[in-house]
Amino acid sequence: MKNILVTGGAGFIGANFVIYMLEKYPDYNIIVYDKLTYAGNMDNLLAVSDDPRFDFVKGDICDPETVADTIRRFGIDTIVNFAAESHVDRSIIDPDAFIKTDVYGTYVLLEAAKTFGLERYHQISTDEVYGHVPFGHSSVETDNLEPRSPYAASKASGDLMVNAYFVTYGLPVTITRGSNNIGPFQYPEKVVPLFATNAIDYEPLPVYGDGKQMRDYQYVGDHCSAIDVVLHKGKYGEAYNVGTGTEMENLEMVEILLETLNRPKILIRHVADRPGHDRRYSLNVAKVRALGWEPEHTPAEAIAKTVQWYAENEWWWRKIKSGEFKAYYRQQYEERLRNATPS
Ligand code: NAD
Ligand code: TYD
Repeated sequence: MKNILVTGGAGFIGANFVIYMLEKYPDYNIIVYDKLTYAGNMDNLLAVSDDPRFDFVKGDICDPETVADTIRRFGIDTIVNFAAESHVDRSIIDPDAFIKTDVYGTYVLLEAAKTFGLERYHQISTDEVYGHVPFGHSSVETDNLEPRSPYAASKASGDLMVNAYFVTYGLPVTITRGSNNIGPFQYPEKVVPLFATNAIDYEPLPVYGDGKQMRDYQYVGDHCSAIDVVLHKGKYGEAYNVGTGTEMENLEMVEILLETLNRPKILIRHVADRPGHDRRYSLNVAKVRALGWEPEHTPAEAIAKTVQWYAENEWWWRKIKSGEFKAYYRQQYEERLRNATPS
């Protein structure tokens, strides 16, 4: 592994991964390949933009010619695919781009990996492919995939295609299925950066339904180190769950967030729930731990550290929240907030 193509590397987790890998491995070259959708942001890569081991190509993973040109030009031996449409609420409004990027785009990359005989194809997947997880169970990698949102269904389709390329063509693949990531550079449509930036401005926090849905909030740096471990020690054809292994209710996450920012609970508004909202995700992470990986942050530490970053980095999020985001926020929340109930 020497020349790694990081697709979607200008997004939240991808950019954190690029920074992590360049710092850890002096002899690796990283080429980010990214379409720069609304979620792609070159500000996320400022820390590495002058590094001679870093390059950037603007391109779509659905475009096989540009993918092939890039693999040839940089002598790519490994693909780590972060590129995706990644927000459940947007997938409910319009699933089209999710099918294109998360399903067809994954196929384009797999086909390129096969054609060029790459050393490894690694797929970044999500705990959402398992669907709602009843109390008393934590998902293991061999569980059935039962996705329930268009986003989760498109990611599960990607996983199935990755597995098909392993079984049919012997492509050296691995998959990681991460729980909710939080940390620097997350687009403020996702709940923790949305609520942190709203709370900083004393704006309401739109909690869906009763707020008792459960998520495993993990620090993005921990997810990146797990991907690194799987890239170096994972077994071909295997999927690995990545998370802290403990989940909390959204309202508990909100309490930690408000406490960290010293903001009052009256900012909480209970609004109309997300259709098909998965009540609980819960991961069994024994398999990745058996490779020697451990998270460095509990969910509570991850939330506090993340919220602190947003408090200290207004330069990063204020310009995002004043752009395209405004129209999205209006569409998603205006009516909900009008009909909201306070906590
Ligand atoms: P993000 O939305 O912040 O970033 C996605 C990146 O992909 C952006 O830079 C965007 O420009 C790029 N992109 C989108 N479509 C593309 C295309 N067709 N061609 C090339 N680039 C394209 O997403 P994220 O939160 O960083 O998630 C990264 C990956 O991790 C995704 O595959 C997501 O499903 C997965 N994941 C995310 C989480 C989470 O909590 N955010 C948890 C588990 C797994
Ligand atoms: P999100 O960050 O969208 O991640 P995911 O749906 O992929 O888990 O949402 C995390 C949780 O927060 C989820 O249970 C939905 C909830 N949520 C709200 O209550 N209000 C919001 O405005 C958003 C965006 C999410």
